[in-house]
Amino acid sequence: MFEPEVRRRGVLVEEVEVRLGELDAFGLLDEAPAEIVARLAVTGDLSEALDGAVHVQECAPESLPLKVDLFERMDALADAATTLASSSSSITVSRIAAGLPGRARCILAHPGNPPYLIRVVELAPAPFTAPGTVDSARELFSGAGMLPIEVRQEIDCLVFNRLQGALLREALCLVRDEVVAPADLDLVVSEGLARRWSVIGPLAVAELNTRGGIVAHAGFMGRAYGRIGMERGQDDPWASDVVQRVAEDLESRFPSSRRDDQVLWRDRELMRLESERRRRSD
Ligand SMILES: NC(=O)c1ccc[n+]([C@@H]2O[C@H](COP(=O)([O-])OP(=O)(O)OC[C@H]3O[C@@H](n4cnc5c(N)ncnc54)[C@H](O)[C@@H]3O)[C@@H](O)[C@H]2O)c1
Repeated sequence: MFEPEVRRRGVLVEEVEVRLGELDAFGLLDEAPAEIVARLAVTGDLSEALDGAVHVQECAPESLPLKVDLFERMDALADAATTLASSSSSITVSRIAAGLPGRARCILAHPGNPPYLIRVVELAPAPFTAPGTVDSARELFSGAGMLPIEVRQEIDCLVFNRLQGALLREALCLVRDEVVAPADLDLVVSEGLARRWSVIGPLAVAELNTRGGIVAHAGFMGRAYGRIGMERGQDDPWASDVVQRVAEDLESRFPSSRRDDQVLWRDRELMRLESERRRRSD
């Protein structure tokens, strides 16, 4: 780990050790925490950190000039085969690395927080990123037990934060208009929507919740969703061709001929989570 701040350098390994202890207590590690800690080293010297690195995961503060400077230095120092990945939540790799001689090995690899528990990591290449860079990042994250998702276009804030942002925007409107108390709004998500989303995503929820799947759901809710979007100044009706495209994808993942089994599976997954939750709170 490269860390320019002396104070942070002094506490980093200890912070990792604490997290590893927690993960170990839940049986989530394959190795003893001490064995993992023994592989860590912290330095304030960038070239020392880059020496022999296969993949760099840049996690510096969210500032364009800072990241541009850091990538310039890394591109000059790192071996030509090293992948340079930024964790940035809102800055594309095009903006960070377009001017670099080694820009083909640069990519955005955006994790969710905490990255040691959220498996999804969004890979967002720039048009200049080499396909081999995407492949090796995908392989590395998969090998580490993570779930790399490829974002097909360089879009501001990627998918994770766009979805989160849409929900937060509406949440703040509902609180602003005194429709609901903030604590109750949080409960609607943590005890309601997110429970289902911890098993299947929102498109699959629409498919399994309604007899006739998402096409039927669009039939009786699509117009209402379009209307509430308009209320917020967003004119994105549920277009039937898009719904159809999603329905075809859902059919391949959740064949309608096995609908009852899939609903039962979803409920059992939720039961498993609920039972674990009750066991832990005993
Ligand atoms: N926190 C999140 O939820 C989250 C999630 C996904 C992605 N990210 C992204 O990860 C990056 C880091 O976010 P964070 O919340 O961990 O920030 P943070 O402020 O907690 O940590 C940043 C670290 O970078 C160090 N640093 C400062 N200047 C540096 C430099 N010039 N070179 C290298 N390191 C430097 C700091 O000392 C600090 O240890 C951001 O780009 C952010 O968008 C954050």
